[in-house]
Amino acid sequence: MSRFPEGFLVGAATAAHQVEGNNVNSDYWAMEQMQYTSFTEPSLAAVDHYHRYEEDISMLAAAGLNSYRFSIEWARIEPREGEFDEREVEHYRKVLECCHAHKVEPVVTLLHFTSPKWVIEKGGWEEPQTITYFARYCRYVTQQLGSLMHYVCTINEANMGLQIAAISARFQVQMMAKMKQAQQANASEEAAKSTEGSVQVGLNMQKMMANMEKQKAENLEVFGTETPQVFVSARTPEGDILAMKAHQAAKKAIKEVNPKLQVGLSLSLHDIQAKPGGEEVAAKEWEEEFLHYVPYIKDDDFFGLQNYTRSVYDENGICATPEGAELTQMDYEIYPQALAACIRKAYALLQLPIMVTENGIAVSDDEKRVRFIDEATKGVCDCIAEGIPVTGYLYWSLMDNFEWQKGYSMTFGLIEVDRTTMTRSAKPSLAYLGGL
Ligand code: BGC
Repeated sequence: MSRFPEGFLVGAATAAHQVEGNNVNSDYWAMEQMQYTSFTEPSLAAVDHYHRYEEDISMLAAAGLNSYRFSIEWARIEPREGEFDEREVEHYRKVLECCHAHKVEPVVTLLHFTSPKWVIEKGGWEEPQTITYFARYCRYVTQQLGSLMHYVCTINEANMGLQIAAISARFQVQMMAKMKQAQQANASEEAAKSTEGSVQVGLNMQKMMANMEKQKAENLEVFGTETPQVFVSARTPEGDILAMKAHQAAKKAIKEVNPKLQVGLSLSLHDIQAKPGGEEVAAKEWEEEFLHYVPYIKDDDFFGLQNYTRSVYDENGICATPEGAELTQMDYEIYPQALAACIRKAYALLQLPIMVTENGIAVSDDEKRVRFIDEATKGVCDCIAEGIPVTGYLYWSLMDNFEWQKGYSMTFGLIEVDRTTMTRSAKPSLAYLGGL
């Protein structure tokens, strides 16, 4: 018997740029190719999901999963301003049809970090005009493909830019302090390691800071501005709210075309905990990470909750990972209990159906992944038993893929991919999740 209620979505997630390959008209593609790039390696053919989606969706379905979250790539649909590419629409139509043929419920994200390069050249995610561009693209996709979807996530981790702003500021402070303290040659490396462990997405802080000046000049050549505002650039408070307005405008456009679609966005939430004395700092963190978004999303159809770990605060700020804690390849703590804690906290404030749109760990030992999924999903079931309407659990990620600046070294997947032959091999965790 399944541990989940009837109709519950059990699945896995990916994002276009991380798996499809050759996303050549996107901002990320351009950044990866730069001389002074912060990326460890470029995405190139990724894991060729663009051509192998059928195999990937079949594997997911055969293992017993019933839902697949993926993203439609704006840079493919609208590679140049106002030019919509119908061949790419047809591609995504086939992906959606493939899901339905396998009785897999698609959960479609319309923006998962990457944007068309032209959007960034026009000011990107600090420029109010982007709201209009984004809503126009969302309307177009809904007109073309809306009848094949039920669940739409407008923006993935709309709060990531603000998290990155905080992390960059923290990194600079730490680096200065360490340099002063010891004048060590490896001071910045140490600061990088400890700060990177506190960011939930693949960033190379040290490379970013070291190349800053040179990057500015190159950015000017490539994007026409020294500071291109991609979706996950360090956000200003205005840019942060701009993303909320883009979500609202997109939702309005989608509903005008197809009122039946279930629309929400996703946020990256940590299980924020306070040590005695750290309550105020933790409360401020929660306000920044979640609370101030509530007015913008409280009328959505669902909330996409993404969680990877916890963060603990004392009166001085974020605490180091506890001594002896098990870490993921991303350098943060394996802490599956965080998911249920986030669900409870978010539901108490939102009172909306909650879909876990991402939760996972990057580890080489798949048994650890199985244990993580077991713990995390037990937590989900406890929440459901308490009366919280959790509608799905989508593991990140269906397959090992391009972890942004960190490249291909982080293995989050339920499926392993040999990138020289593009051969897929299911890890035991795939069947484990499918069997729950
Ligand atoms: C993002 C994914 C990313 C994952 C693991 C989330 O922040 O949505 O794109 O790969 O976390 O870091």
